[in-house]
Formats: sequence, C-alpha cells, structure tokens
Amino acid sequence: MSFRLLKTLFILVILGFASCREEDGSFVFNGFRSANLSLDGFASVVPDGLLLVTNASYQAKGHAFHPQPFKFKSDTTPGSTLSFSTTFVFAIIPKYSYVSGHGLVFVVSHTTNFSTALPSQFLGLFNFNDNANASNHVLGIELDTIANPEFQDINNNHVGIDVNSLQSANSTSAGYYDDSTGAFRNLILASSVPMQIWVDYDGQDMQLSVTMAPVPIAKPKKPLLSSTIDLSSVMSDSMYVGFSSANGPLFTTHCLLGWSFKMNGIAEPLDYAKLPPLPRLDSKHKSQKLAIWLPLTSCALALLVVATVVLVVKRRNKYAELLEDWEKEYGPHRFSYKELFRATKGFNDKTLLGSGGFGKVYQGVLPSSNVEVAVKRVSHESRQGMKEFVAEIVSIGQLRHRNVVQLLGYCRRKGELLLVYDYMPNGSLDGFLYDETRPALSWAQRFRIIKGVASGLLYLHQDWEQIVVHRDIKASNVLLDRELNGRLGDFGLARLYDHGTVAHTTHIMGTMGYLAPELAKTGKATTKTDVFAFGAFLLEVACGRRPVEPSAEEPQVLLLDWVRENWKRGTLLATGDPRLAGDIFPVEEMESVLKLGLLCSHPSSDARPTMRQVMHFLDGDSAMPDIPPAYTSIDILSLIRRDAFDDYMMPSSSSVSHLFELSGGR
Ligand SMILES: *[C@@H]1O[C@H](CO)[C@@H](O)[C@H](O)[C@H]1NC(C)=O
Ligand SMILES: *[C@@H]1O[C@H](CO)[C@@H](O)[C@H](O)[C@H]1NC(C)=O
Ligand SMILES: *[C@@H]1O[C@H](CO)[C@@H](O)[C@H](O)[C@H]1NC(C)=O
Ligand SMILES: *[C@@H]1O[C@H](CO)[C@@H](O)[C@H](O)[C@H]1NC(C)=O
Ligand SMILES: *[C@@H]1O[C@H](CO)[C@@H](O)[C@H](O)[C@H]1NC(C)=O
Repeated sequence: MSFRLLKTLFILVILGFASCREEDGSFVFNGFRSANLSLDGFASVVPDGLLLVTNASYQAKGHAFHPQPFKFKSDTTPGSTLSFSTTFVFAIIPKYSYVSGHGLVFVVSHTTNFSTALPSQFLGLFNFNDNANASNHVLGIELDTIANPEFQDINNNHVGIDVNSLQSANSTSAGYYDDSTGAFRNLILASSVPMQIWVDYDGQDMQLSVTMAPVPIAKPKKPLLSSTIDLSSVMSDSMYVGFSSANGPLFTTHCLLGWSFKMNGIAEPLDYAKLPPLPRLDSKHKSQKLAIWLPLTSCALALLVVATVVLVVKRRNKYAELLEDWEKEYGPHRFSYKELFRATKGFNDKTLLGSGGFGKVYQGVLPSSNVEVAVKRVSHESRQGMKEFVAEIVSIGQLRHRNVVQLLGYCRRKGELLLVYDYMPNGSLDGFLYDETRPALSWAQRFRIIKGVASGLLYLHQDWEQIVVHRDIKASNVLLDRELNGRLGDFGLARLYDHGTVAHTTHIMGTMGYLAPELAKTGKATTKTDVFAFGAFLLEVACGRRPVEPSAEEPQVLLLDWVRENWKRGTLLATGDPRLAGDIFPVEEMESVLKLGLLCSHPSSDARPTMRQVMHFLDGDSAMPDIPPAYTSIDILSLIRRDAFDDYMMPSSSSVSHLFELSGGR
C-alpha cells in the first residue's frame, strides 16, 4: 500500500468519523460535571453537576448549548428535516414557593448568540422586535410559569411548542396521561420537583410530540402535546441544541439534572441514579409564601429607569420636543419644554425632589403663572402606544378630587415624557413614616391621611366617569399637601409598561409587597388588586413599617403575616407603630384600621371589600364585618395554583428532604 493511498484512507476515515458524529450525533449527560457546554448569562454548572440555566437572580437570562451544532437537513431528500429525539430532567425552583417566573425552554437554534434577547416573558429567546420573525430559525419547547396575555398564553403552568415565536403553535397545561388508567394528571412546573420531558420529531411525517412525567415514572405512551409541523423552513443545515431560561422580578432557579439527545434515533434513556441531587429546600423560606414582595425589584427597576433617563438626557437639542399631528387636540394640556426647563432652573439637581420608580421629579415655578409644580421626567423607548398613553394622561388630567394629585399636563421629547403635577410641599408619606429626624405623625393625622387616600381611591374606582385602576398604591405614592392631607399621585404610569414603551418590562407591575396574588398569576390589574395594595398601605401606616422588611426577625419579615398572626393570637394592637407610644387616641380606630388592612389584603379577591364599603367602615357608617374565618386556613400557594393543582405533585416530604438550599449569599 502506497503512502498516498494510506493518506487518502486516513482522510476518508477522519471524514467518515466526522460525518458519522454529525449524522448520528448523540450525547448523554447524567449530570453536567464533565459536560462541555457553552454557557452564557446566568448559566452555570454547580460542583454537584447540576446545570443552572438561570440562578435565582433578578431579571436573569441564561443559555446552555451543546458546543457543536448538528446537521438537521437530509442529504438524500433535499430540504427535508431529519428526525431527532431528546429527553431531559429539569426542576424549576422558585425562591418563594408562592409563585415563580418565567420559564425554561428546550431550544433548537441556528445561533447560540441570544445577546439581544430579553429576560422575563421573552424567555431569553426574543425581544419586542424579533419575536415571530421567520428569520429567527428557532424551535422551542417552552415550560412557562407565567400567563402572558400578549402571547395568548393559556395559563401560568403550560408546555408549548414555539416556532420562531413565543406565541405557541400548540400548548397545553403541564401534566401527563397515566398509562394504566388513561387519566390526565396535572403537574406543577414550578414545584421544585424533578420532572422529565421527551421531545421527538419524526422528519418523515413531520410529527412533533412532547411527553412529560415526574421522575421516575417511565415515558407515558400518550404524549402531552403533538403537532404536525413542517420544520423545513425553521431548520437550517446546522443547528445548535440547548436551553434558555429567564426570570422576571421573581427569583427562580431553572435547572437541569440530565440531558440526552440523538439525531435519527431515540435518545438514550437517562440513568436516574447518576443524576445530581437537587438543592435542598430551606423550610424557612418555603414558609415565606408572601415573600415575593421584595422591595429589591422595585429598586432595581427604579435604578434602571433612572439610568435610562440619565443616558437619554444628553442635552443634544436643548429645547427640542416631539409634537405629532395627533397631539394637536391636546394643545391645552401641553407644556413647552422650554417653560419646564426654565421652571426647574434647567432641571438643576438643587430642584430635585426625588427619584421614584418611574423617573426623577423636580420642583419648579412656572415662569408664566408663578404656579408651583412638580415635573416628573419619565424615559420611554419607543413611540408605540404613546398615543393611547397620552390620551389616557389627558383624561387623567381631568380628574378633580381633593385627595388626588392634580396632573396639569405633559410635554414630550425624544425618548422622554414629562409630566407636570401640582406641587405637594410636604412630600411623600413614606418620608414622614420612615424619616427618624422628622416628628412622628400622630394617629389623628394618620387616620385623616388614610381616609383621604380611601376617598381618592373610591373616586378613581367608582365615582369618576370611567374606572381608573391606580396600579401602584403605596406610601411613597401618597403625597401630603400643606395641611397634611393625603393625596394619591402617580396613577396610570404603570400603563406605560402595558403599552410596551419601557424596555425590560415584565408583566407583573406594581410594587413588591403590595402585589395581590392573582396579579402575579394573571398580570391583570383590577380595582380588586388596588384594594389589596390599599390593605398593605393601611398596615404600613398603622404599624409604621414597610410591607417587607428583609432585615427583620423571621416572623416579622412580612408585615401582612405578622399582623395576621397577632390578630389570630388576639394581640393585634401590639403591631402598632412604636412611635405612637406617647400619643393618646381611640385604640378602636387603630384596631379597625388593622383589621380593615387584613380584610383588604385578603388573598382571595372575592373576600375583599369595595372602596365604597371601605369608606363606610372608616366613616363608622357601617360596622366592620368579621374577618372570614377561612382567612386563617387559606394557603396562598394552593389558592394560586388551585386550577392546576393535583395533590399528587405537591413535593412529598421525602422529595423535600433531599432538596437543599441553593442560592447562597442570603
Ligand atoms: C469544549 O468545546 C469547545 C468548543 O467546541 C472546544 O474548543 C474545547 O476544546 C472543548 N473542551 C473540552 C475539554 O473538550
Ligand atoms: C452576538 O450578536 C450581537 C448583535 O447581533 C453582536 O454584537 C455580538 O458581537 C455577537 N456576539 C458574539 C459572541 O458573536
Ligand atoms: C426579520 O428579521 C430580518 C433579519 O434580522 C429583518 O431583515 C426583517 O426586517 C425582519 N422582519 C420583520 C417583519 O421584522
Ligand atoms: C395540539 O396538541 C393536541 C394534543 O396532542 C392535539 O390533539 C392537537 O391536534 C394539537 N393542535 C395542533 C394545532 O397541532
Ligand atoms: C447568579 O450567577 C451570577 C453570575 O453567574 C452570580 O454573579 C450571582 O451571584 C449568582 N446569584 C445567586 C443568587 O446565586
């Protein structure tokens, strides 16, 4: 044999090996300790071999891909897609068993570069612009724990087939068909329990099926989802396989224990005995059902918005504004930028009143009228939805109530919206409640503020010509006028997020600690969710502390839980603000405010009173009803998940015992 022949043979062998590896490409990872994956974002492999696609971080996204792509197109039948099969074991571990966000996706993609994708509802795959674009070349099997109306999600616990878009081609509630009885059993994705998914695609009949079962149940015969999908335009010749996951404001760990994949064949089964252990759940945190309400998220959001404002306001064209044809009719509500610039001495830091969740607020005096105003600068990125939003602002500007901060008008510039309000000389209520250097508000003052805010909210909910949902009731959004009357400010701004004009939105808006449970589930703000937040506000004012106090002793972290515990024990008044110690006042008033707070923040929206009823209770016109006894036994978790609930899948004590607390550093 000549050397040349040998060399040719050698090359042939090499080529044969490579193509074999591609055509019949397969791999099995029972644990990821020695897996060579390409990771990005918040993805990591912990020493035990567990792959965290995202850890429990805020607004995190992460990706984990097999480093080499696979050949997905057939050579023999040009254009047609090859068959493939994969199976993996995953667990979704919310930091607080209350609720999770957002989801985990098995991905087949022509690229591993998802740098422009957004977290939260975009699951780390797409963004506002490229969702549903056919040039994405992405197939996803999503495990989604939030219902996003914009993607027509069916619920907050579903499995979906996504083709280039988060609007699933087919989706269904998580669960499986029991082989022996044929009955459907619900599974809860975010239950911190390991579950297995099988995805099989038959290139010939274009049949894609997704099957699911809790570990260690064998693959059920009947798939959970199946669709006939021609993937030929989705798949390019060379595609990467891997995972993407994303968090919104709710800290959740999305992890994988094992993964097996095979082109043109059935993926090799996983060896459960070799899978790494799951993090042990810390019982302390498991009990914190209400603790998704970390104020952290709103702080981070505030920072984000403020940062954007700072960036955007590079005084390029000093007085340039945006004025479009559709705005002509709003002329009287429009301020010129020049006037606002002069009023605030050029948005001088000396006139800065504060920075809230939506931007910075400056104090000013309008040069034309000498009227004192507060000017809020809000950044926004696109003009999409701006028209509706401005229409809404103008209509809100028509609200007139002594307990509502008057919106005087607006101005629009590139990337920025300016809102002009009546100036409130005493600032926000939370300044008074938490600033030790100021004298404590007396009970009489607090009670008057509470009644004022209630009457302002009643006006928005029921007395004005259209229903206005405030969406962000909290002490820092209650402003105090010269006579220390409470006035509601900042309403409607959360709508900006709904219209998609602010980047990095998540569907859950409002402030942690004031969020009603159903809001986390549906993302839909209603007068009932306002009442819930008003309840948290009542407790905040009476107890003189924030709804969530991460540094407090365990039973006191969550104000609502703590007040409820004291109510059960008959020691309700012990929760009153210690700064009221020297004050003499009718304690029944405080008692009824505390009870009313519990009633308004009832986990079940049906049990909450309307603002009209609240007003009657506060005025003493009608007697406070007893707090429903069911309150004591209501488990928020089961309430949230009632419709997707199957007692089979609640973490049993045995599965809990080998789960360990993961996200350290707390
Ligand atoms: C892991 O994969 C990368 C990309 O293919 C490769 O460059 C690297 O050598 C691999 N490392 C190991 C240890 O196999
Ligand atoms: C990923 O894509 C972005 C934008 O498309 C690009 O700027 C960046 O360089 C890419 N990153 C890599 C590692 O290719
Ligand atoms: C889809 O994406 C491609 C490539 O990024 C782009 O050229 C095209 O305009 C996009 N199509 C739509 C409808 O946005
Ligand atoms: C969606 O999946 C179900 C369950 O497998 C199946 O019966 C139905 O035909 C699928 N729908 C589509 C549009 O593929
Ligand atoms: C999550 O991962 C990031 C980056 O890998 C790290 O900086 C952060 O500390 C981790 N957070 C938690 C809660 O583990």
